[in-house]
Amino acid sequence: MNIALHVKERLGLRRVVLGIAGSIAAYKAAEIVRMLRECDAEVRVVMTPAATAFIAPLTLQALSNNPVQSDLLDPHSEQAMGHIELARWADVVLIAPASADFIARLAIGRSNDLLAAVCLVTQAPIVLAPAMNQSMWSHPATQKNCSVLQQRGMLLSGPAIGDQACGEYGPGRLIEVEAIMEATAQLFATRLLTNKRVVITAGPTREYIDAVRYLSNRSSGKMGFALAAAAVDAGANTLLIAGPVDVPSPARVTRLNVESAREMEALCMQQAPQCDIFISVAAVADYMPDKKSAHKIKKSDAQMTLTLVRTPDILAQVAALPQPPFTVGFAAETENLEKNARQKIADKKLNMIAVNSVNNDEIGFASDDNEVTLLWHGGQEFMPRTSKSQLARLMIERIAQHYGTE
Ligand SMILES: Cc1cc2nc3c(=O)[nH]c(=O)nc-3n(C[C@H](O)[C@H](O)[C@H](O)COP(=O)(O)O)c2cc1C
Repeated sequence: MNIALHVKERLGLRRVVLGIAGSIAAYKAAEIVRMLRECDAEVRVVMTPAATAFIAPLTLQALSNNPVQSDLLDPHSEQAMGHIELARWADVVLIAPASADFIARLAIGRSNDLLAAVCLVTQAPIVLAPAMNQSMWSHPATQKNCSVLQQRGMLLSGPAIGDQACGEYGPGRLIEVEAIMEATAQLFATRLLTNKRVVITAGPTREYIDAVRYLSNRSSGKMGFALAAAAVDAGANTLLIAGPVDVPSPARVTRLNVESAREMEALCMQQAPQCDIFISVAAVADYMPDKKSAHKIKKSDAQMTLTLVRTPDILAQVAALPQPPFTVGFAAETENLEKNARQKIADKKLNMIAVNSVNNDEIGFASDDNEVTLLWHGGQEFMPRTSKSQLARLMIERIAQHYGTE
């Protein structure tokens, strides 16, 4: 089973208390321990007494490389207040599977077994992956308990809908272990771009004809903003140079607003020499009016002729710097996607380019989804349709990988 690089990055060296409750899905916890260890996380398994009837503690001890605990009233480990120590040690408490009964105990704040006591003491985030019969899951009592826990800030991963061990079909199956890993990993930032300076341009530009009219395009800025959020999440010091868009700034990103291609050029040429990675997502106008009228042009003749001149090629200028950053371009193409993209890499001396087709209204431009083909010297990868934020995370991962090798 392949673990996504960003999951490994986020979970590496984290201290995970894996709680296992008495569900038929308890055997799947063995795979979770194995995956956490593959991420280089440190794992301490705590089982409810009921869970030990479903999977042998010895299996989990061998996989986690740590003793497994299930007894709250164990004189040996409690000599040093074991449950408090465990709760303080954890960076995250992941309970997978979480039984209906355990969820009920958490909701009312019981501490009658070691795992419940750890949950009551810990300051670390708690992730719950419920697993139970579909009627148990749909019962108002369980639903109420889950919403109480969510209001308290606990994260629910799943359950999934599907065939159940009891022969029924419905919601209540333990969600796939990859999804549990993903949900847990989201609590931590990656360190792929720690201390790297990333500059990202986003949105359209406005090329003014007169005081009130301009030429622009349909770019929403969503892809560039999603990349900025993913870069920050990867530990980068991130600057977003944004054209006029209606998208909120991602947390911890420095944002500078511009309007025209020339303004964007000026800011980029000032910032790019000090950055490590430059990602040009902005849909910079290719042409601008040769002159801007200071006043609103009056309606007079039946026809009006505009003379347009080329705007500066910001990306090419950045890539041509004496010591260029790792430079990534975006290309929206309607035909010959790959051929045109390779041509751009060569012409502009880019390190990477992401191409998306703007033929399909459901992806690209104003949409929340996108799909791209990422191309670099000697390789390419198709990234199928997904949300822009998920795609951005994947792209930042690839950019970080290639940045490290070129
Ligand atoms: C064969 C078998 C399978 C069970 N599977 C589940 C389950 O998947 N989910 C659940 O919530 N309870 C399940 N139960 C019931 C729990 O084991 C029972 O409620 C137990 O008290 C839970 O203890 P714990 O929450 O302390 O782990 C199952 C019981 C049996 C006998």
